[in-house]
Order: sequence, then C-alpha cells, then structure tokens
Amino acid sequence: MSWLIQNRDEALRIVPMESRHIPAVMVIEKQVQFEPWTEKIFRKEIEKNFSLCFVIERSRNSSEKSIVIGYLCAEKILDEVHLNNIAVARNFQRCGYGKALLGFLLSAAIREEASVIHLEVREDNIAAIKLYESFGFKITGKRPDYYNSAHGKCSAILMSLRL
Ligand SMILES: CC(C)(COP(=O)(O)OP(=O)(O)OC[C@H]1O[C@@H](n2cnc3c(N)ncnc32)[C@H](O)[C@@H]1OP(=O)(O)O)[C@@H](O)C(=O)NCCC(=O)NCCS
Repeated sequence: MSWLIQNRDEALRIVPMESRHIPAVMVIEKQVQFEPWTEKIFRKEIEKNFSLCFVIERSRNSSEKSIVIGYLCAEKILDEVHLNNIAVARNFQRCGYGKALLGFLLSAAIREEASVIHLEVREDNIAAIKLYESFGFKITGKRPDYYNSAHGKCSAILMSLRL
C-alpha cells in the first residue's frame, strides 16, 4: 500500500517504513521529539504483525535520491488502531505533511476494518493536538504527570477517533 503525488518538479510518496529508512527516521526523531525513541524501538515497531508504519519521502526530480521528511508508527490490535508516533522534520513542518500522513493512516485503518484510532499526546503539544482535532479526534481522558518535560512532569491527553 503506497501513495504518490507527482508534479513536474517533485514527487512525494508515502510507503511502508523499512529498516533502510531507520537512519533517516532517527535523525528526525532526535531533532523533534522531547524523549526520542531508539533505533531498536523503530525496528520492533516495523516487525510487529499488524504494523502500520509509513514514511513520507520527497524527491525533487526523477534522478534525485528521495529523502525522508516524516513518518508515522501505528499498529492494529483487534479492531483498534493505536497511533504510537508521528513526526515531520523541522524544516518541513507546517506544510501539510503531518496531515498527509495521518490521512493515509485513516484510509489504511478503514481498509483494515478498524473501528477506532487511539493515541496519547503531551498536554503541552499544541501542534499535535490541533492536528488530531482537525481530523475529528476527541479527548477521552488524561494521565496526570505521565511524561517528563523541561519543567518537571507533563500530563498525557488520551484522544480517539471513531471510524
Ligand atoms: C505534530 C506534527 C507531526 C505536525 O506535522 P506538520 O506537518 O507540521 O502538520 P501540518 O502542516 O500537516 O498541519 C496540520 C494541522 O496541524 C495543526 N498544526 C500543525 N502545526 C501547528 C502549530 N505549530 N501550531 C498550531 N497548530 C499546528 C494545524 O491545525 C494544521 O492545519 P493548518 O496548517 O491548516 O492550520 C509536527 O509538528 C511534529 O513533527 N512535531 C514534533 C513531533 C510530535 O510532537 N509528534 C506528535 C507526538 S503525539
């Protein structure tokens, strides 16, 4: 399962994450996450039986090697999809790539006949919360003081989208 948008100057692709993508994914992970995952965690994610892990790649023209600009890791457990990670490289944020990745996950979840998508997000992560709300995710709960943050602890907000 993949997705391609192409014009004269560039091509964007969403493709399943493979081990060859992990070095580029790690560069972004360390750049944008407060508590970055390790390479080992990404390897485990892509090896899961019901893994839904994707990268979005961009190439400027047909001869240029594509670069990873964002990724998403989710998994299907029974009829539920759990979104475990999503990130876009800092230079490419606010260009619609997060929306493209999440939209792609929604299509995949519907195709897999999931009935709900769950996720957890830091209470202070306004960008991510706005992104999820734009797809109709609703807050369903809170885990107080769940994450470490620069100012001590930070709560986790639980969000879900019924499909
Ligand atoms: C959250 C993240 C993936 C969003 O990716 P993105 O490519 O920048 O998002 P998009 O450009 O597709 O934006 C989609 C919507 O999200 C919201 N949004 C994104 N960034 C925002 C910001 N900085 N402030 C407020 N809203 C924001 C807006 O509603 C936006 O729609 P709009 O541009 O039409 O207003 C990105 O900010 C990121 O990688 N953050 C670091 C990693 C992270 O926090 N991941 C989430 C873990 S739960």
